[in-house]
Amino acid sequence: MTTAPTTATRLREFDDLPGPRGVPVFGNLLQVDSTRLHLQLEQWCEVYGPIYKLRLGPRSAVVVGDHELIAAALRDRPDGFRRTTKLEQVWTELGLTGGVFGANGESWRRQRRMVMAAFDPGHVRRYHPALQRVALRLVERWQQAARQGAAIDLREDLMRFTVDAIAGLAFGAEVNTLQSGEDVIQEHLNRLFPAVFKRIFAPLPTWRWFPSAEDRALVRSVAEVNAAVDGFIAQGRKRLQENPALREHPSNLLEAMLVAADEPDSGMDDRQVAGNVLTMLLAGEDTTANTLAWMIHLLWQNPDALAKATAEARRVCADGQPPTIDQIGQLDYIEACAHESMRLKPVAPQNTMQALRDTTLGDVHIPAGMLVMAVMRRDAVSEAHVHDAARFSPERWLADDHPNQSASAAKRISMPFGAGPRICPGRYLALVEIKMAMAVLLSRFDILDVGTATGEEPRELLQLAMAPVGLKMRVREHGTSG
Ligand code: HEM
Repeated sequence: MTTAPTTATRLREFDDLPGPRGVPVFGNLLQVDSTRLHLQLEQWCEVYGPIYKLRLGPRSAVVVGDHELIAAALRDRPDGFRRTTKLEQVWTELGLTGGVFGANGESWRRQRRMVMAAFDPGHVRRYHPALQRVALRLVERWQQAARQGAAIDLREDLMRFTVDAIAGLAFGAEVNTLQSGEDVIQEHLNRLFPAVFKRIFAPLPTWRWFPSAEDRALVRSVAEVNAAVDGFIAQGRKRLQENPALREHPSNLLEAMLVAADEPDSGMDDRQVAGNVLTMLLAGEDTTANTLAWMIHLLWQNPDALAKATAEARRVCADGQPPTIDQIGQLDYIEACAHESMRLKPVAPQNTMQALRDTTLGDVHIPAGMLVMAVMRRDAVSEAHVHDAARFSPERWLADDHPNQSASAAKRISMPFGAGPRICPGRYLALVEIKMAMAVLLSRFDILDVGTATGEEPRELLQLAMAPVGLKMRVREHGTSG
């Protein structure tokens, strides 16, 4: 059981819950716009309270906005809740191989152990020089933009940064999209997330009957991505063959996974390894890049915080070089800015689970098979839970600096990386990447402008990860007047 109701009142059933009125057959599905689903769920929380119902065609969902109930459900995994069967279906139909993110039960346990081994601090430390090289390429790309007076497309450049970073760490591959032209792997990766998300909420599977140009492009992208993943695996196998000592001390996640798969009775094969190569690329790309883009936007909106973050970057990285791992550890204010950005702009603002057995959430009975949609941002931006909730205040994350709002309270309520046994295994790496990119941006450049073409607040676009739309940045090299 997930949480017990506090009084002996009767449990509420699905039909007892409030919720927006739907239509026959489709229920609320026609009201759902998957690109702004999180905003709709948050708005309905305002109307129906922290727990309400939705019907998504044949599926029933209980929507939960209360952070304590959400945390209880997230912790009750893998036995109480799983990722949804719909996600698995859509993923497989697209021709993609599954990895730890979509796995459940015993298969998830096995893959999670394998993936966690790759994120041990010693490994991340050994990889750090490669991350510094990726950061230097980002600097070169932005120097070029500064010299040409060109506007930087923040999402695009930051995704090149995160793809290069994760490919290096996880696969030992120098992908170098930062210095490439258009036809790079992330052009294809970028199609996958939106397509998966759109299909999960599509009222009808039109792509099966009338494939559009977009659907056909997607088939090509799946083939390209699968070929790239196979290429990483072939390179990994070759390295293991040429250097058998790597079997004892694998130098990256891919090698570790291949070694694990080769163990007798491992239950793993190259296909599962491929699924996790793809998972790393997808899970590590948009999330970190979008978080960085939102953070740069929020800092630009908050000049005092930007000034403090800049001063810290220039003090710690006085030589203008990308920070060492020890210097990364000194960027406390920038880290606080990252946490505050994720509170206000969590790139995973909703997390859908599916009950594996009958359980309860607060006073609501959740039958096996029911979807539970967690609205992650509601309480984190509510005055009832967070002091001065609408304000961008990195100080609230620095213990003792903010008597009204201890860091631990903010941490408990804002869960940008999820919670419980399935919490994001890449969270420390993501913070290192974020601090690295911010340190080189703030120490090497002066930001001249960050904004959208219309000057309006960037729209929040949800495509599994939530992105700012149309955010551009102009910079000049620090110490120049150009
Ligand atoms: C700011 C950056 C990131 C954010 C906000 C983020 C957020 C999340 C969230 C919310 C989940 C779901 C957790 C849950 O269900 O409780 C997740 C899962 C996951 N993330 Fe991240 N993530 C980020 C970066 C990364 C990176 C860099 C990697 C790896 C390279 C990564 C790999 C994964 C994997 C493998 C899972 C699935 C874990 C499982 O199901 O056991 N993430 N992430």
